Amino acid sequence: MTNPLSYAGKRVVIAGCFSGMGEACARALVDLGAEVHGVDIRPSPVSMASFTELDLKDWAAIDHVVAAIGGEVDGVFNCAGLPQTFPAADVVAVNFLGIRHWSEQWMPRMKRGAAIVSVSSNAAMGYMQRVPLLREFIATTDKAAALDWVAAHADDVADGYGFSKEALAVWTQMRSVDLIAEGKRINCTFPSPTATPMMKDFEKIAPKMVFDFFAKPINRQATPEEQAWPLILLNSPAASFISGVCLPVDAGFTGGVLTGEIDMAAFRASLSGGQ
Ligand SMILES: NC(=O)c1ccc[n+]([C@@H]2O[C@H](COP(=O)([O-])OP(=O)(O)OC[C@H]3O[C@@H](n4cnc5c(N)ncnc54)[C@H](O)[C@@H]3O)[C@@H](O)[C@H]2O)c1
Repeated sequence: MTNPLSYAGKRVVIAGCFSGMGEACARALVDLGAEVHGVDIRPSPVSMASFTELDLKDWAAIDHVVAAIGGEVDGVFNCAGLPQTFPAADVVAVNFLGIRHWSEQWMPRMKRGAAIVSVSSNAAMGYMQRVPLLREFIATTDKAAALDWVAAHADDVADGYGFSKEALAVWTQMRSVDLIAEGKRINCTFPSPTATPMMKDFEKIAPKMVFDFFAKPINRQATPEEQAWPLILLNSPAASFISGVCLPVDAGFTGGVLTGEIDMAAFRASLSGGQ
């Protein structure tokens, strides 16, 4: 029997392989025998089949790099992202618009059975409350029009982080409907706080108690590897019937919130009370 978890001989691309989850994912995929092609704004420390410097804000560069890597792929791993310490328009341009454009360019090059996985965030867990608004934004497929939309909806977009991750979650689910007809899948993950370089940026914009709360019930941050393995699983044939899923990778946080075992309302009240 063929091992459905094997990556031996598989050809994959990964965006965001300089540090954190993307670096961990690239290392694991190389160890598993995949031909790994990485892109990032900074050179990756991982030795792989190819690395190309690419800023996901630059759509012309994305088109060029996809054509230069070329060929067909078995998996697309989207780990690149910006925290909300950057301007909101840049955050949305990388975390949603860039990831979407990069993924759309790979879609025609995906073999039957291939899959895309993106890292969203549990910061997006409330996306269901504003699907119509997110669909309106997602319908702006032109980059300039999308950035105009962002500028015109400053209150909804806020710091750009949660909004971009919600858009990624909704687009992932919408896109899964058409892609499965071609035998291709698309999913995303909702990680809880993870010990990567981005955490330093998060800690600049919110007090430690926020990250301690989101790290419940395990009461520690994930390692980058603990976020990388679910991505590798979702893009493997072992997950052949999983598409359009936003998978919490949070050691029980989402389940606790959805069932009331973890009291989100009390936490919000404690924040507004300044505690
Ligand atoms: N660390 C957390 O607690 C956490 C929680 C939930 C979701 N996330 C998400 O996980 C993903 C991975 O982040 P991480 O935590 O590993 O942090 P990280 O900062 O280590 O990784 C982000 C990567 O994206 C790359 N990148 C940034 N801007 C880019 C651009 N314009 N073009 C191409 N690459 C770019 C960076 O160079 C880096 O390699 C991100 O999408 C992040 O939003 C992180």
